[in-house]
Amino acid sequence: LRVCVASDAEAAAELAATRILALLREKPTASLGVATGSTPSPVYRALARAMRSTPLDLSRARAFALDEYVGIDPRLPQSYRSVIDAEVTEPLGFDRRLVSVPDGSATDLAAAASAYEASIDSIGGVDLQILGIGHNGHIGFNEPGSAHDSLTRVVDLAEETREANARFFDGDVDLVPRQAMTQGIGTILKARSIVLLAFGSGKAEAVAQALEGPIDQASPASALRRHADVTILLDKAAASSLS
Ligand code: F6R
Repeated sequence: LRVCVASDAEAAAELAATRILALLREKPTASLGVATGSTPSPVYRALARAMRSTPLDLSRARAFALDEYVGIDPRLPQSYRSVIDAEVTEPLGFDRRLVSVPDGSATDLAAAASAYEASIDSIGGVDLQILGIGHNGHIGFNEPGSAHDSLTRVVDLAEETREANARFFDGDVDLVPRQAMTQGIGTILKARSIVLLAFGSGKAEAVAQALEGPIDQASPASALRRHADVTILLDKAAASSLS
């Protein structure tokens, strides 16, 4: 596991973007695991900028989102389907048919979750997974207590996660869905390479627990220490609780 403390979030995002571009140049059919939320946005913007100066054809690349709210209308701007469309698919020129997001509005959610897991496996797995981390150490929506070998499934969101995400729902926590469909920790660990980004002092404790605390279910991100190819990109504030 490599830890890199960059001068700021923009610099960390540039490093992640450079890594993604190298993969996509080398393997135009690569599959990218994409996170939503605030953290990866500067990475996607850096990718879009780089592709404006040096065009790259991503029409054969695939993307798999980590998670989606259960019961949300996918056309709402808060749905992760909409976020991925707006931040990844359209600006980067992915073929929509090759971009997958868990189906949080399926009638049979368990079947949709298994199908999502199977679709990742069927194309040979994710080459590079981009991750953020929650204040409580969650990755994807695998909240503390999630098994480190869990697969794609429906989960209950922790209260603190709903509160943290209320900013995307007019600040009203009651509008934040109570459940999500998420890749499991075991799903995430199947990716060949993983890059986790964390910015700001609000993430410092979760980062320290993940990297220096026990590897256990209380810290979902601590499971990453069992993976052979993980890079952690931090700004100074997110690194501030590391010893
Ligand atoms: C997003 C996801 C979450 C976020 C995490 C951090 O798809 O799965 O794990 O990465 O909640 O969110 P931000 O980046 O908004 O602080």
